[in-house]
Amino acid sequence: MSLQLGDIAPDFNAPTTLGDINFYDYIKDSWAVFFSHPADFTPVCTTELGRASRLKPEFDKRNVKLIAISVDNVESHKEWIKDINETQNTDFNFPIIGDENKTVAQLYGMLHPNASETFTVRSVFVIAPDKKIKLILTYPASTGRNFDEILRVIDSLQLTANHSVATPADWKHGDDCVVVPSIATADIPAKFPKGFKEIKSYLRTTPQPNI
Ligand code: BEZ
Repeated sequence: MSLQLGDIAPDFNAPTTLGDINFYDYIKDSWAVFFSHPADFTPVCTTELGRASRLKPEFDKRNVKLIAISVDNVESHKEWIKDINETQNTDFNFPIIGDENKTVAQLYGMLHPNASETFTVRSVFVIAPDKKIKLILTYPASTGRNFDEILRVIDSLQLTANHSVATPADWKHGDDCVVVPSIATADIPAKFPKGFKEIKSYLRTTPQPNI
């Protein structure tokens, strides 16, 4: 069965552009974004890796490690990184796993044979420090991912892990949140001193509690 939210992300050993790694040792106590690429020297992937590399300071601020995978070998990845640096205004700064045998791609269900016999799809796994999978995204090869959206979800995940709120549609850092249904309205003032609005008995909003 494929991996689902709440599952423990499988551990593995693999070669990368920054040397051999054990996945859990690489993540340590951080969050992680683990994302797959159909193949090296492909245009959309080149822009995605460039964008992720330029955004690394934003991932660092959130204690998130980036790691990519493509089913070519590490030598090929290293050559490709030269092109990424040349064309994407970046100095590439995180590991890409070489997965020639597709071992890790299979472990994470990144191969969708009805979409492509040979390429991985564009999978994204966001993994919490306890190694539980918190987000799974799957995009087709033809559509590049939105890394601002991945950062937005991480902001929501890190907020809601520590406060009894959820984030509404299109929420972004700084916007009001919704109080989770398990909190009785009578208990909101004590828990959320910044105040709240009761729009419906089940729809109560409060300013973002952690800013
Ligand atoms: C790309 O990254 O540009 C790409 C990869 C596989 C199929 C189509 C596009």
